[in-house]
Amino acid sequence: MRPYVLLVACVAALGGLLFGYDTGVISGAILFITKDFSLGTRLQEFTISVVLIGCIAGAAAAGSLADAIGRRLTLLVAGIIFLIGALASAAAPNENVLLAGRFVVGIGIGFSSVVAPLYISEVSPAAVRGALVSLYQFAITVGILGAYLIDYAFAPAGAWRWMLGFAVVPSLILIGGMIFMPESPRYLFKIGHDSRARDVLQRIAGGPQDSIDEERSIRESLKVKSAGFAAFKDPAIRLALFIGVSLALLQQVTGINTVIYYGPQIFQMAGIASATASILAQTLVGTVNMLMTLVAIFFVDRLGRKPLLYVGLTGMFLALTTLGIAFAQPHLSGSLGTIALTSMMVYVGCFAFSLGPIVWLLISEIFPLPVRGLGMSISTIANWVGNFLVSQFFLTMIQKLGRPLTFWVYAALCIVTIVFVRAMVPETKRELLEEIRVAPA
Ligand code: BGC
Repeated sequence: MRPYVLLVACVAALGGLLFGYDTGVISGAILFITKDFSLGTRLQEFTISVVLIGCIAGAAAAGSLADAIGRRLTLLVAGIIFLIGALASAAAPNENVLLAGRFVVGIGIGFSSVVAPLYISEVSPAAVRGALVSLYQFAITVGILGAYLIDYAFAPAGAWRWMLGFAVVPSLILIGGMIFMPESPRYLFKIGHDSRARDVLQRIAGGPQDSIDEERSIRESLKVKSAGFAAFKDPAIRLALFIGVSLALLQQVTGINTVIYYGPQIFQMAGIASATASILAQTLVGTVNMLMTLVAIFFVDRLGRKPLLYVGLTGMFLALTTLGIAFAQPHLSGSLGTIALTSMMVYVGCFAFSLGPIVWLLISEIFPLPVRGLGMSISTIANWVGNFLVSQFFLTMIQKLGRPLTFWVYAALCIVTIVFVRAMVPETKRELLEEIRVAPA
């Protein structure tokens, strides 16, 4: 792989870093915001979830924008939105401005969750596409861990404005970086700027023959002139949409964000008494999440997407089942507590090399070029809606169903996901983007 491609992917992956940072940072900041603005429970919950509403709105707008003004500019706009949102929420004189700022941040996250993987996937040579899109997931996990650590550092001073404002730094790097990055060659061919497209392709392709092959298959795929929603009349494109939406939803309903967002609470249920210790345990979760993503980076193009999904989902299933069993015991002490904690780590670790990166990867791969932005947008909306539902109802589920059953529900959904992957998902390893088909021709 050329170092240039790696650079382009790294800059775009900053969109993922901001995604992770801005979703993670609120968990620590909320304690102090609640105090400063004297928030009741309802407003407190809304301050946390308003960002997810922004994500849904941003994801809805991003695909059409990426098809209209290009991937590069949309990612640049995402950077600017992140910047405005971070500044507004850090300087917020009152709760209303804070809510507005967090909503704007959400739009930025929604934008980058559609466009960053899409852009990376389109600039990557087929042989390393999996690794480079997994790099985006890696950046998400770096952002989440970074947020936990920044929260931890600023907590003694109660400095929530610094916690939220810190996102300015990666936003500026993203904006500055994207000014110099090339537009996706696929997008350039799509809008008829052939010579610029060829130029970019030559800079990123593995060798001259590769760039000729890629150009040929991109041109082939552009023969299907289908615009906007009308394209979904085509059964193959409808099937791709069904797979994309389902995968995006399954990534969430198997419960990852219960641990990412509510980790300290679950740790306390598992017997870690002090708040500080459980926040520290949460940084361990963040570290496992980050390190295990490297497994995907190394293996996703060698072993393929589906084998990693099978292994990861099986591990998640076993860990969740064990967690449920531990919580089903009358007293969770001593070794049971350790088993519960280990299960949580195993669960997160298995997600990190499978469902985490590979869902973003697959939904950036399965749509034909003419509808890629739109298809990714709709799938990503489903992802954020799923995220919203799980994080809104997790505590209610614990109350109504009890702890064991709640985790067993997520475990059962891992099995559903395995069956779904087996039946519906194509193996896309090393295929040129344009040659990927969701169903046998
Ligand atoms: C998911 C997020 C999750 C993160 C955890 C991402 O792939 O989309 O919802 O918080 O992984 O690392």
